[in-house]
Amino acid sequence: MGPSSSCCLVLITMITVAMITANSYVHAQRGSGGGGKCIAAERAALLSFKAGITRDPAKLLKSWRGDDCCSWSGVRCSNETGHVVGLDLRAAFFLSNETFVWCFSGVAPNGMLGEISSSLLALKHLKHLDLSGNYLGGVGLPMPSFLGSFKSLTYLNLACMNFDGRLPPQLGNLSRLQHLNLATYQENTMRPGDVSWLRHLGLLRFLDMSGLNLTSNGDWVRLVTGLSYLKVLQLGGCGLSLPHEPTAHSNISSLEILDLSSNRVDTINPAYWFWDVRTIRELQLGRNQITGPFPAAIGNMTSLEVLTLGGNYISGVKSEMMKNFCNLRWLELWSNEINQDMAEFMEGLPRCTKSSLHILDLSATNITGGIPSWINHWSNLRSLQLSANKLEGLIPLEIGKMTNLSTLYLDNNQLNGSISEEHFASFICTRQNGPQFPLWLKGQRDLDYLDISDAGIADDLPDWFWAVVSKVDYLNISCNQISGKLPATLEFMTLAVTLDLNSNRLTGLLPQLPQYLQTLDISNNSLSGPLPLMFGAPMLTQLVLSINKISGTIPSYICALKSLEVLDLSDNFLDGKLPRCSNGSEAKQELNMSPDSTQMQLSALILYNNDLSGKFPEFLQHCQELTLLHLAHSKFVGELPIWIAEKLPRLSYLQLRYNLFSGSIPVQLTKLENLRYLDLAYNRISGSIPPILGGLKAMIQGNSTKYTNPLVWNYYRPRNPNDFNDGYYVKYHNSLLVVVKGQELYYTSTLIYMVGLDFSCNNLGGDIPEEIASLVGLKNLNFSHNHLTGNIPEKIGLLRYVESLDLSFNMISGEIPSSLSDMASLSYLNLSFNNLSGRIPSGNQLQTLGDPESIYIGNYYLCGPPLSRNCSGPEVTTGLLEGHRTEETYFHLGLAVGFVMGLWLVFIGLLFLKTCRFRYFQPSDKLQDSIQTSVLKTSAEWFHRSQRIQNKKGQGQASVSEGT
Ligand SMILES: *[C@@H]1O[C@H](CO)[C@@H](O)[C@H](O)[C@H]1NC(C)=O
Ligand SMILES: *[C@@H]1O[C@H](CO)[C@@H](O)[C@H](O)[C@H]1NC(C)=O
Ligand SMILES: *[C@@H]1O[C@H](CO)[C@@H](O)[C@H](O)[C@H]1NC(C)=O
Ligand SMILES: *[C@@H]1O[C@H](CO)[C@@H](O)[C@H](O)[C@H]1NC(C)=O
Repeated sequence: MGPSSSCCLVLITMITVAMITANSYVHAQRGSGGGGKCIAAERAALLSFKAGITRDPAKLLKSWRGDDCCSWSGVRCSNETGHVVGLDLRAAFFLSNETFVWCFSGVAPNGMLGEISSSLLALKHLKHLDLSGNYLGGVGLPMPSFLGSFKSLTYLNLACMNFDGRLPPQLGNLSRLQHLNLATYQENTMRPGDVSWLRHLGLLRFLDMSGLNLTSNGDWVRLVTGLSYLKVLQLGGCGLSLPHEPTAHSNISSLEILDLSSNRVDTINPAYWFWDVRTIRELQLGRNQITGPFPAAIGNMTSLEVLTLGGNYISGVKSEMMKNFCNLRWLELWSNEINQDMAEFMEGLPRCTKSSLHILDLSATNITGGIPSWINHWSNLRSLQLSANKLEGLIPLEIGKMTNLSTLYLDNNQLNGSISEEHFASFICTRQNGPQFPLWLKGQRDLDYLDISDAGIADDLPDWFWAVVSKVDYLNISCNQISGKLPATLEFMTLAVTLDLNSNRLTGLLPQLPQYLQTLDISNNSLSGPLPLMFGAPMLTQLVLSINKISGTIPSYICALKSLEVLDLSDNFLDGKLPRCSNGSEAKQELNMSPDSTQMQLSALILYNNDLSGKFPEFLQHCQELTLLHLAHSKFVGELPIWIAEKLPRLSYLQLRYNLFSGSIPVQLTKLENLRYLDLAYNRISGSIPPILGGLKAMIQGNSTKYTNPLVWNYYRPRNPNDFNDGYYVKYHNSLLVVVKGQELYYTSTLIYMVGLDFSCNNLGGDIPEEIASLVGLKNLNFSHNHLTGNIPEKIGLLRYVESLDLSFNMISGEIPSSLSDMASLSYLNLSFNNLSGRIPSGNQLQTLGDPESIYIGNYYLCGPPLSRNCSGPEVTTGLLEGHRTEETYFHLGLAVGFVMGLWLVFIGLLFLKTCRFRYFQPSDKLQDSIQTSVLKTSAEWFHRSQRIQNKKGQGQASVSEGT
């Protein structure tokens, strides 16, 4: 590594146990509770509840049969009375335990679907009810008010159930409650309204309302400070601010855990604190808008174990003020101002933190100097994050002695020297570590997160590798040159949710996949053979296998993947017809799916560069969410379906070039209001261009920002090794082949800025409809190589965003409309080989376009500059080629089309060749701004930078309004 190169990002062995603990906890609580004999009426009530469940993927209710309901899993009866007193149906694999909840947006991967039957009311003695993580709400389904009738409840957990609308105020009747969890994810539609009913729940010890919008509850501080037994209060992401007034009477003298992260708190003034500084153990204020100086009064919180202030604008943070923090385990200060030498900062921390501190995040805090060699005195550090500072000098070898360290980020500094295995006894800096596979991994057994992407590893996958990663939930080895054969099955990776193996040299067949897998990317490898008939992973949402050597047909198992959103099998050797996905498909029966559940979630189907055949895929009629369909370069035949507009209302990109489609362009196609890119080039389409183009509203409005881009999705990446909740999303971009200006290019997320119509190389006749001029959002228009007649529409100049216009090789006659010179964005124009006549308009952009001869060649009667033919004189034949189209000229010109100069710079920002998808860790939004300003230097990096998502509980497909 050169002296100026900054050390790469390092991320290693996250020995996280959150998920595993959560599961074992769940199982411990379940079990056949009590021995009491089941009461018939209660058994009936439970069976009615079961009847309301339409889907139970984890088979939580499998044991619910037989007479003794007390022995059913999740049901607990009282030994004395026999009544059901506990119902614990928390979704398995749902990442939650007592203090932390992580809500997925939408359905928890393994949660039940259905509704809560009011028959449960028969369980009059219920004390404990936990339904968290199950999708028993949904659009139009609020939390049922009858839940307020379980008067004996002491424990109620309804977190992450996706209810709609208001919280029922009847919850205020549950006066015995000690534990109430209503956390949800932030983007949901729940509007809690006035929650003053909380004041009746005077026994509460635990309250979690994270993610609920409580902005309208102005007196929330008074409300919660009235709950005098409260120990844990979690109000992350509730839109709350801390009132600028001293708290009158605070009854809470036992509050130990307070989470106000991701809110609108703007002050850290001790005068407004409502908690008791002596009892508070965990204070989470990260991702707020706190400005101002770091208060000395912080030092009075002597019990503090966790302090997270990251993502604020606090100045003058001084470690001296923390000198009483002897129990400090976790200190997170990223994106505030420390402005100190690192050694000075570390010296200011009390001695006792040397054994207590587990997590230290000082990313983007403007710390300077070198990393002190005595950093290893903090021997229990598991996570040390120093990204984006002004650290310089060598990386001390002592870091290698920190045997507990499992996460180290040093990226974005001015550190120099190389990182060698000597530095890392138990972990390693990945980049430029190669070419060998990191041996330190061998023997690791508790990894649950492994990212060694882009580390320059050029080696075989060692035998022991799969044993090491058998418990990971996230595995990323992408962008290396790792070779070796994939095992026949990965089912032993029972916890895996995300596997990113893209851009390596892996061979073999697609393995059987882990049961809970959601995202799989093995693109750009050397997989071969056919896809297995069934390959597991019923919850897959993204399956990306592009650029491999996979052959055979696409199995009908695809139809059974009901959560699948992105399917990219492009650039393979697949052939045959697509599956029909009809009701009776075998795969579906195998999976026990109800036969009428034909709807699929697909939003992107990307199959280009294969040998697929058959008609336009019928099963797409069940894919209402489909946004992008890319079937180019295959052998599809037949007519385009007329159901397209009705069944695919969201379709935005339709790429069908280089197929054998025939028939005419269905008028229904022009009703696709979201269609932005329509490419039918190189087919056998005949008839005329439908004149009713006004229905293509997305081509009229131009850029729309409220748009979900199926090519962009997020990975969750935990920040801290022992808290899966605290993480951020890494934005992931797929790329896509698009043809513009005669060149095939790969586009990524910026595809949404492309608006185009390409009907080139077909058999279309008739006139170019005048209405084309209404599609003012167009950037690319190509009708070349057809039999179009008539004139160029007079108003074509209204298309002022068009960058590329190609009408060559038609039979268009008349003059070139003078409005053409109004097309200010034009950088590529081709009108060659038509019957155009008269004077060539001049002005603006037209003068700057490339070779004038190739633009106008083959039009006998055109005259005036830039041609040498004079308009006033008699019509003469110039030295230009003769008008008949020989095969030869066709060929030569075809080559020339790809060679375009013009205003290429305009497009640089959009262009991206598919190589690796680098991900960058961005510790702060401030930092991100500075990254954005350096975009022009490294546009590829820009596309792949990771995007911190502000709210830790947010999730889901990103709508691409950010970026440019
Ligand atoms: C109920 O019975 C079970 C098993 O017989 C026993 O483990 C449990 O402690 C009993 N609970 C009470 C409250 O008596
Ligand atoms: C919940 O998670 C926290 C943090 O990981 C842990 O300290 C605590 O023991 C867990 N609780 C249970 C009941 O598993
Ligand atoms: C929260 O609710 C308030 C009004 O109650 C509303 O103005 C605001 O937009 C909501 N915030 C979010 C993020 O929905
Ligand atoms: C810390 O608490 C003590 C005792 O209540 C108080 O006298 C002192 O002013 C506090 N320190 C700060 C900096 O607020």
